[in-house]
Amino acid sequence: MLKAGLIGCGSMGGGHLGNYYRFNREGDLLRLTCVCDIRRERLDTVKQDTGEIRLYEDLDEMLANEALDMVTIALPTYLHKWATIKCLEHGIHVLCEKPMALTVEDCDEMIAAAKAADRQLLIGQVLRFEGDYQYLKKLADEKTWGDVVSVRFTRSSSAHAPMGWNNWFLTKELSGGGLYDLHIHDADMIRCVLGNPRAVTAMTRTSFEGSKNDAFAGIFHYDGPVVCAESDWSWKGLPFTADFVVNFERATLQLRRGVLELGTYENGLQPVDLSTVSGINTDNPYYSETKYLAECIRDGKENTFNPAFESRETIRLLHTIEESGNQGGKTVQF
Ligand SMILES: NC(=O)c1ccc[n+]([C@@H]2O[C@H](COP(=O)([O-])OP(=O)(O)OC[C@H]3O[C@@H](n4cnc5c(N)ncnc54)[C@H](O)[C@@H]3O)[C@@H](O)[C@H]2O)c1
Repeated sequence: MLKAGLIGCGSMGGGHLGNYYRFNREGDLLRLTCVCDIRRERLDTVKQDTGEIRLYEDLDEMLANEALDMVTIALPTYLHKWATIKCLEHGIHVLCEKPMALTVEDCDEMIAAAKAADRQLLIGQVLRFEGDYQYLKKLADEKTWGDVVSVRFTRSSSAHAPMGWNNWFLTKELSGGGLYDLHIHDADMIRCVLGNPRAVTAMTRTSFEGSKNDAFAGIFHYDGPVVCAESDWSWKGLPFTADFVVNFERATLQLRRGVLELGTYENGLQPVDLSTVSGINTDNPYYSETKYLAECIRDGKENTFNPAFESRETIRLLHTIEESGNQGGKTVQF
């Protein structure tokens, strides 16, 4: 059985922890043996009822004491490169949360470190493991209802200070702002489904002092489909929203408030039952991304499903969007 560590046990780390308890209960693929967080109160939330999990407030101490096969890094974004390279250099495979890093150069350093260490690096662009989005990709790839005609992604949340353990989310240099933290999911999915756009045209706006690009609306230039997206994490008290509408030549697929539906002229709008569709993941996507990496490690197979270079390209796309926004909506080639 592979031994795993969790680094960062805040909001997202807590989610990963729940999935690791499940791996520990299942007892065949992965076993969480240790957790690291600089805040003792977060370590105190770790349950010990699925077997002993050792607790560390210092990453170097954890790496010195534990023999690990893989780690999940759920640290604030500005620490992703630091922790990823450190773990890779210790010979440990890495699942690092999105955003991979905040510059393309940092992403390249992470990829180079994985190559030098001959270890796997998977970035948690979780929508690639999420059934609704996998179904969208399947329809687009297989042209089930014809070509994609138009695409609209929207993602919004109600951020307010303090956000993250010391408000790091609302500091542009630490999180990248709303574009890099929130819209990144849809930017990655647009690339995953349609490939790279030729260019982007974007408008951005900053709502929080010290942050950047908290609201965004943009057009992605493709030869064929008309593609737009928007995100805003400065909504006031509204629930988190992640919706899309993708119109194909003969049907329209909609994800709205967590409900996936397919519309046709003949049958109107019908719910989609993903449990009847082959090749679509209906399990918890965070559990599934962890399981996928662990299976790659166990079987000596390369991560071909979500290679780190893909996540690097999504960061490069966000830079292009930001550049367009900085120039007041000038179209920028990608
Ligand atoms: N995939 C997703 O859907 C998703 C959702 C939310 C957040 N995230 C990403 O997950 C990452 C973490 O976000 P979060 O919401 O959990 O943030 P958070 O602030 O809630 O948690 C970060 C944790 O890291 C700990 N920490 C900080 N410095 C440390 C260090 N040097 N060593 C050990 N621990 C340290 C903090 O004490 C804190 O508990 C971010 O990159 C975020 O973008 C991904």
